[in-house]
Amino acid sequence: MSKTALITGASSGIGREIAKQLSSRGFRVILAARRKDRLEELAEELEGESRVVTCDLSTREGCFDLYEQVKDERVSVLINNAGFGAIGNFEEIPLETELRMIDTNVTAVHILTKLFVKDFIKADRGYILNVASSAGLMAGGPLMAAYYATKAYVVSLTGSVNRELKNKGANVHISALCPGPVDTEFNEVAGCEFGVGAISAEECARAAVEGLFRKSLIIVPGTGMKAAATLSKIVPREMVLKVAGEMQKRKTK
Ligand SMILES: NC(=O)c1ccc[n+]([C@@H]2O[C@H](COP(=O)([O-])OP(=O)(O)OC[C@H]3O[C@@H](n4cnc5c(N)ncnc54)[C@H](OP(=O)(O)O)[C@@H]3O)[C@@H](O)[C@H]2O)c1
Repeated sequence: MSKTALITGASSGIGREIAKQLSSRGFRVILAARRKDRLEELAEELEGESRVVTCDLSTREGCFDLYEQVKDERVSVLINNAGFGAIGNFEEIPLETELRMIDTNVTAVHILTKLFVKDFIKADRGYILNVASSAGLMAGGPLMAAYYATKAYVVSLTGSVNRELKNKGANVHISALCPGPVDTEFNEVAGCEFGVGAISAEECARAAVEGLFRKSLIIVPGTGMKAAATLSKIVPREMVLKVAGEMQKRKTK
């Protein structure tokens, strides 16, 4: 199997750490995001081979252009990680911010999954990790309504594609990573602060890479978060929304 991995959102946080982990496992890594200086800094730091590609995944052209730039490089691992959130009452968050969020968290993940899954099926090998969130496993999240909805889309899409791949016996695997709070630049971008303890991006990335190669469908790093995700399945929907709303309220600055 060729050993090249493409990581979106590699300039910071979880993506940066996943890139480091894959590089140390012997993968040549393609680092994608908007901030070129950050990507180059990481490339310098890595001992293994890497390539930097700048792209804006909030546009369709940005997604197709990224694919065109790397499609002949025998990518066998795709990490769809780029994304962001925004906190506030639904009527107060600017529509433009939410549409850009949907474009980045949903449309880009959808486009890249579609393009690469086709290539991977043809080559009969490959792994895709879609970075969703524990938010995607919950009934919803008042004060982060659009963000929770984008992540629910990613969890749903990943689960269905995973089953289709299994049904056809393809040697291609797809996982959804569903972390709770992780210490990254997420809060700064979303305009919030965590109400409950966050895990490090390194811990999250380790669980992500291990879970992906173990072929887990849903990867939830940390025992506390695993318990919360399980609990949310049995608690009535209205109750989950109430508790999630209280938790989000504590995150507002
Ligand atoms: N931190 C958490 O608590 C947490 C929990 C669950 C899930 N997640 C998910 O984990 C993923 C990574 O977030 P993070 O926590 O690591 O936050 P982060 O440190 O802010 O990293 C976000 C990454 O996404 C990239 N990105 C954002 N918009 C982009 C665009 N339009 N085009 C290309 N790249 C873009 C950023 O790069 P540039 O700015 O350089 O473009 C950056 O590398 C996200 O999908 C997030 O929703 C985070």
